[in-house]
Amino acid sequence: MSEASSRWHPLKPIISWLMALILLKISFASTEPDVEGEALIDLLNALNDSNGRITDWNNHLVSPCFSWSHVTCRNGNVISLSLASNGFSGTLSPSVIKLKFLSSLDFQDNSLTGLLPVYLANLTHLQNLNLANNNFRGPIPNTWGQLSNLKHLVLRGNDISGDIPDSLSNITGLTELDLSSNDLAGKIPVQLFTVPTFNFTGTQLTCGSSLNQPCASGSSLGGLFFVQKYCVSLPIMFMLLNKT
Ligand SMILES: *[C@@H]1O[C@H](CO)[C@@H](O)[C@H](O)[C@H]1NC(C)=O
Ligand SMILES: *[C@@H]1O[C@H](CO)[C@@H](O)[C@H](O)[C@H]1NC(C)=O
Ligand SMILES: *[C@@H]1O[C@H](CO)[C@@H](O)[C@H](O)[C@H]1NC(C)=O
Ligand SMILES: *[C@@H]1O[C@H](CO)[C@@H](O)[C@H](O)[C@H]1NC(C)=O
Repeated sequence: MSEASSRWHPLKPIISWLMALILLKISFASTEPDVEGEALIDLLNALNDSNGRITDWNNHLVSPCFSWSHVTCRNGNVISLSLASNGFSGTLSPSVIKLKFLSSLDFQDNSLTGLLPVYLANLTHLQNLNLANNNFRGPIPNTWGQLSNLKHLVLRGNDISGDIPDSLSNITGLTELDLSSNDLAGKIPVQLFTVPTFNFTGTQLTCGSSLNQPCASGSSLGGLFFVQKYCVSLPIMFMLLNKT
């Protein structure tokens, strides 16, 4: 009896550890399924991670807020996804809008395809949206004007077409708007020239020296503007010089 209990004893901590693990598993299973974790798995499937860059997004690893790479949480909710430069060649799944508290979404420098997703308009906490240098096409959805917390909208280097919807003027906190190197055309809503940092170069949008609106913030109106100033001021200088 004493012999048997001493042989059994070394296993005791292991067994109780296993019991604890099972209880933990049950307690997690009894809460609602992790909506955000499942949304991220959907997202990853659609992204086509053919280089296998994301290996630790896994439904069996509790919740995304504990250990998943590229994910930042606050108060147990995903608030930021930093997925730049991963060679993704798929699409951006509508499941992304299940991440209701997302404030930053960065997919810069991948090869994502498809229309610019209308459903991103539902991510009302979004402050930073960077889809630069992908293969997104189609127009900028009118409903993106509802993204009232947006500060940075960076869509440089895609195949985005159509004109800029007036609704973007409603996003009053915008500090950066980079729509450069796209197929956009037409008039630029005049309020957008007041965004501190903007760039419309490499498009068919109406800006530049002949229109008296620079295509990028901080840049001069270019050659023509300079020539106009120079040509006006030079004769005046000569007149002043001749007077003396
Ligand atoms: C995923 O990416 C690979 C490599 O870029 C490509 O060959 C394949 O067609 C893609 N699959 C889908 C479903 O887009
Ligand atoms: C997205 O937003 C629209 C308009 O506010 C709303 O009608 C729709 O139900 C929302 N979709 C989801 C999945 O929350
Ligand atoms: C801007 O927002 C107001 C109030 O929500 C709305 O009535 C108006 O239609 C919006 N403007 C544009 C151009 O979307
Ligand atoms: C504007 O965008 C173009 C093309 O993306 C880039 O080459 C240029 O440096 C940008 N200009 C400014 C002032 O950021």
